[in-house]
Amino acid sequence: MCPPNHEPLHYKTCLPCTSHKDEHPSADMTALRRGFLFLLWALCLAITLIPSHAEVIHEFVTIDYEWPNATFRNQSLANGDFDPKAGVLSGVQPYTKFNGYSWYHALFVTVPRTQAVKGIPSGLNTIVKDANGKSVLRPYPNWDAQKIGDCSALQLPMSTAIDPNTGLLYVIDIGRVGISSPNPANLCPAKLVVYDIVQGGSSTVLSYEFPDSVVSRTTNYLNDIVLDYVNPEGTGGVKYAYMTDTLTRSIVVYDFAHNKSWAYKDPVSMGTDDDKNITIHGITYPLDIGVNGIAMSPTFNYLYYSALGSKRLYQVPTWVLRTPGNDFVSNTRLVGSKKSQGDGMVFGHKGLYFGALEYDAVYKWDMEADVISQRVLEGEVVMKTQVPVAQNWQTMQWTDALSLDTYSNLYFTTNRAHKVFTNKMDFDGGDGANFRIFKYNVHDKSYLSPAPPERPDLIVG
Ligand SMILES: *[C@@H]1O[C@H](CO)[C@@H](O)[C@H](O)[C@H]1NC(C)=O
Ligand SMILES: *[C@@H]1O[C@H](CO)[C@@H](O)[C@H](O)[C@H]1NC(C)=O
Ligand SMILES: *[C@@H]1O[C@H](CO)[C@@H](O)[C@H](O)[C@H]1NC(C)=O
Ligand SMILES: *[C@@H]1O[C@H](CO)[C@@H](O)[C@H](O)[C@H]1NC(C)=O
Repeated sequence: MCPPNHEPLHYKTCLPCTSHKDEHPSADMTALRRGFLFLLWALCLAITLIPSHAEVIHEFVTIDYEWPNATFRNQSLANGDFDPKAGVLSGVQPYTKFNGYSWYHALFVTVPRTQAVKGIPSGLNTIVKDANGKSVLRPYPNWDAQKIGDCSALQLPMSTAIDPNTGLLYVIDIGRVGISSPNPANLCPAKLVVYDIVQGGSSTVLSYEFPDSVVSRTTNYLNDIVLDYVNPEGTGGVKYAYMTDTLTRSIVVYDFAHNKSWAYKDPVSMGTDDDKNITIHGITYPLDIGVNGIAMSPTFNYLYYSALGSKRLYQVPTWVLRTPGNDFVSNTRLVGSKKSQGDGMVFGHKGLYFGALEYDAVYKWDMEADVISQRVLEGEVVMKTQVPVAQNWQTMQWTDALSLDTYSNLYFTTNRAHKVFTNKMDFDGGDGANFRIFKYNVHDKSYLSPAPPERPDLIVG
């Protein structure tokens, strides 16, 4: 009845099964105690084997905002600046900091102006609860910074990254709006904007406009961003940002020290393949959509990426990206095939977390386990150990963005994007909440946090 000596890690917290051996109670008592111990052990086993549930921390049928006053909201509804059926929750980034006597916590989210030019009053926001306990979005840094057509403001902030060590928020702005609509408006150049968010601040540290030759003013779809410290200790701060451009199928690099940017293209690894049709709940969605999710290894030695219309996960050494003009294509490597197509992804120190769209699930690739069992380096490892992290066919339809904080939590958004593409979203609430933010303790930390001392990175490039 007792677990064997070579018990897997899971069972370690269960009862010691030998504790009664050196005592001499009556046979009846021993049997009773054995029964009791077995029950406790079984209960303990059941608790450790059933995955605990990811907690919904915010949910929305439609997106709404914290308005300056009701008149302004009514006017915005009347003139079309606010269309509750236009906004789709996408990116999520947590920021938590203890400053010695109090906690500061903020959750940054994006609502991309992709489907229409008008209707989304603010793209970059934090989430707050209104007087009725309803989750609403507060424009960040403010309403003025969201003005469509003002190129010093944000046009289509798509994704964000936060450096937990400095409290800097990195935002990619496509510069164009309505980019998935029949009439996109190419209003401004794409830019990378950096805000100082420490203690609720909002000063702009950098606003870099990409040259048209690197990020096209008419065809870009900057999608996802990761940061590169170069060394895992993070001394000297962020040196490079890497961004996917989904429409031009390229990876864009920004070099902070030299204030320069360049891009790499590869039609094969950044393109789609036979998995470009995604089947969700029996309906097939043809999604010929290129490079999308991007993730940085905690060693900062490899960048990983996947196209939406593909299950393939590729890696490229960061030395290739850090200078322009290298041979990108011949340095890419196919690492394996993901459980399903996915949108965003993120590395912790223990593995890669990604959405598995055909399963309404989040999966984890345990890279550490594969590096050890295959006795290879990160540059040779084959993706094998993929385990489910969370799944729900109703509430986890289309995991969009994932991020990790420095306190063990994975955050992810689900937004039923397949229903948005096909105009099948029920914005009247008949299908429950459409957008959710989940928080789940995965005992792992952001790739930008130092490796946990009890478990230093085994993954050496
Ligand atoms: C409502 O808010 C708008 C935008 O900030 C402002 O221009 C207007 O004066 C406010 N109206 C009232 C009645 O407070
Ligand atoms: C806003 O519109 C709602 C619904 O039409 C109405 O009940 C409310 O009085 C309006 N509020 C203001 C301040 O105009
Ligand atoms: C960085 O480069 C951009 C575009 O080339 C330029 O407009 C900007 O002035 C530069 N910033 C600094 C601080 O040199
Ligand atoms: C994808 O679906 C389309 C129909 O929507 C079909 O014509 C095509 O053959 C499918 N492609 C693959 C690779 O299965």
